[in-house]
Amino acid sequence: MRKSIILITGVNGEIGHGLVRSLYNEGITNLIGIDLNAADDFVTERTMDCLVGSILDRNLLERLNAQYEIQAIFHMAALLSTRAEFSPVIAHEVNVDGTLNLLDLAMEQAQSHGKPVQFFFPSSIAVYGVPSLAVKKKVGAIREDDYRYPQTMYGCNKLYCESLGDYYGKYYKRLSTSDSEGLVDFRAIRFPGIISAHTLPAGGTSDYAPEMLHAAAKGEHNDCFVREDATIPFMTMQDAILAIEKLMETPKSELTQTVYNIKAFNPSAGEFLSKVKEYFPGADVDFVINDNRQSIIDSWPTDVDDEQARKDWGWEPIHDLDRAFSEYLIPEIRSRYEHK
Ligand code: SER
Repeated sequence: MRKSIILITGVNGEIGHGLVRSLYNEGITNLIGIDLNAADDFVTERTMDCLVGSILDRNLLERLNAQYEIQAIFHMAALLSTRAEFSPVIAHEVNVDGTLNLLDLAMEQAQSHGKPVQFFFPSSIAVYGVPSLAVKKKVGAIREDDYRYPQTMYGCNKLYCESLGDYYGKYYKRLSTSDSEGLVDFRAIRFPGIISAHTLPAGGTSDYAPEMLHAAAKGEHNDCFVREDATIPFMTMQDAILAIEKLMETPKSELTQTVYNIKAFNPSAGEFLSKVKEYFPGADVDFVINDNRQSIIDSWPTDVDDEQARKDWGWEPIHDLDRAFSEYLIPEIRSRYEHK
């Protein structure tokens, strides 16, 4: 008998860490991770095993397929938006071909053990592209079907993978006689920027907010690479994980979409800095604009409409901006840097 497991790709990344922390605290002990980098002690201690390797390595995935019965896949591995602009072809390989490999693994598993495999895919506000700042200001909260004109490789990859997931979930090999509908139970959330008290993102464009906060907590100088008025939606890592778990535990019959917007708060970079300064009055931040990264932020919406997530699976964030700082970011970040 193959052991039944939950697979997390990109387990050593930011959301990977958050997921491991939360699933382990809930008593889930059958987590298997995969990541390009060796998992750190935090992850290793909370997982059954962590494989070092690429999601593009089909032999590695085949080994997983042979060894385990996979119940669910949380596919977090990706090259984020800034990094992807430096290596678009590699980003496409990792973000698209890697996702295709994992969807295929999910299908193969479901066909072999006869039960649906749940598949969680973190999509992003990067799938949106508003044509100008004037339009960005005017349109306000964007719905799932609006402005899907991504301007980054990462955004293109995420948007296409949403469709691939839909295909595997509903239409896979529709001309064959065997019925595969529903075998891959694909669900996706378009995340805003995520701010963790425990980890820093690597290679994203929304990184300016968490970087500002962590630098202030460490007493270090920070150059914020966007204008003070730059505004996109954000949420805490705790809320991001809550959302993933909530969506994944909702009966499929209650979901009217495969892809959902969610949001929590959307301060400008300047407002975010003011909040940081309430707790770290000495925060040493200069606005040194990187026009290229700024133009990516300008193409992302100020706000998203998450009405459908609220209706279908009861999405509601714990943290608005004030509570994000007072209840999560500040207490955890203080204890993190004080103990170093
Ligand atoms: N936070 C991501 C990035 O900045 C977007 O999903 O790339």
